Amino acid sequence: MGFDTPLTRRLGIRVPVVQGGLQWVAYAELAAAVSNAGGLGIINALTQPDQEHLRREIRKTRELTKRPFGVNLTLLPALNPPDYPAFAEAIIDEGVRIVETAGNSPGPIIKQLKAAGIIVIHKATTIRHAKAAIKLGVDILSIDGFECAGHVGESDIASLILNSRARQELGDVPFIASGGFADGYGLMAALSLGAAGINMGTRFMCTVEAPIHLNVKQAIVDADEHQTTLILRRWKNTSRMYSNNVTAKTVEVEVNSRTGEFTEVAPLVSGARGREVLVDGDIHHGVWYAGQVMGLIHDIPTCAELISRIEDEAGNTLARLALSSSSASESRSRL
Ligand SMILES: Cc1cc2nc3c(=O)[nH]c(=O)nc-3n(C[C@H](O)[C@H](O)[C@H](O)COP(=O)(O)O)c2cc1C
Repeated sequence: MGFDTPLTRRLGIRVPVVQGGLQWVAYAELAAAVSNAGGLGIINALTQPDQEHLRREIRKTRELTKRPFGVNLTLLPALNPPDYPAFAEAIIDEGVRIVETAGNSPGPIIKQLKAAGIIVIHKATTIRHAKAAIKLGVDILSIDGFECAGHVGESDIASLILNSRARQELGDVPFIASGGFADGYGLMAALSLGAAGINMGTRFMCTVEAPIHLNVKQAIVDADEHQTTLILRRWKNTSRMYSNNVTAKTVEVEVNSRTGEFTEVAPLVSGARGREVLVDGDIHHGVWYAGQVMGLIHDIPTCAELISRIEDEAGNTLARLALSSSSASESRSRL
């Protein structure tokens, strides 16, 4: 099926499907596979230890695909924050055309990227933050509903309402629906709500090219929509994770701690342990991101198979809707 949306036109892609900027997953191999299949692949800047490694990953992606791809730069509160301007400098120097920003206080980074003429997609979990990002000059919003893997925000508004609100409130600025999408039916639903395309995180984690342990992919296939846990609400950093022994322990401490000191949960939620899960495949070793959309994921396809299936499902849905609308008008005219 041929798509023509503000997203396909603006980014120069064939299918309006974006691969989420997945920490410890979104390396060159995955991003290039998505871009080669017609979507927008994204590599994750902070998965690289420093500016030089990010430069190499960008060059590697360019060797693997001639199609457009992007870089995700996520700005999260940290005691020792990464050198964000240096990462942005690498992105600009390497001639990347599309960047997805996410997280807090993105103003200075967005300014730096826009001054270099880069198309900036900013991820938001509320309409208020989306509007603030538009004032900062972003080109496209990615609207992340409560179903999503990772940082869900603190408002708990699911994709159906949030994306409809985006259509009502964001004027001409195109937006991508994110959180809870895995197939062509979801894509058509998002387009109906007014989105210009979809962003998928958990679904792309569960593909052949995602460079993570097979046990993690199999755990996603085996799980259903009930197997996620929200952690860190007490510290206003609510995150949706795959439910395992460590999320259970984290919630127990979170609910029962008298002091409310973050240091009590810090060893449980350590990023290093989460990364080890993805590399070694022990799914109960640490916390790792996954969304409710696990309930819709039943296999581990290649990115090309997945995107081609999404095109077919979207085409079939369109045909089915066209058919039922013509039979409805037929029966109306018979009355
Ligand atoms: C393993 C994993 C790592 C993620 N890391 C990031 C990240 O570093 N930055 C970010 O903006 N979003 C991150 N996300 C969120 C995704 O980009 C995307 O917004 C989310 O997965 C969409 O929800 P879905 O999983 O229902 O598709 C991550 C998600 C997963 C599953």
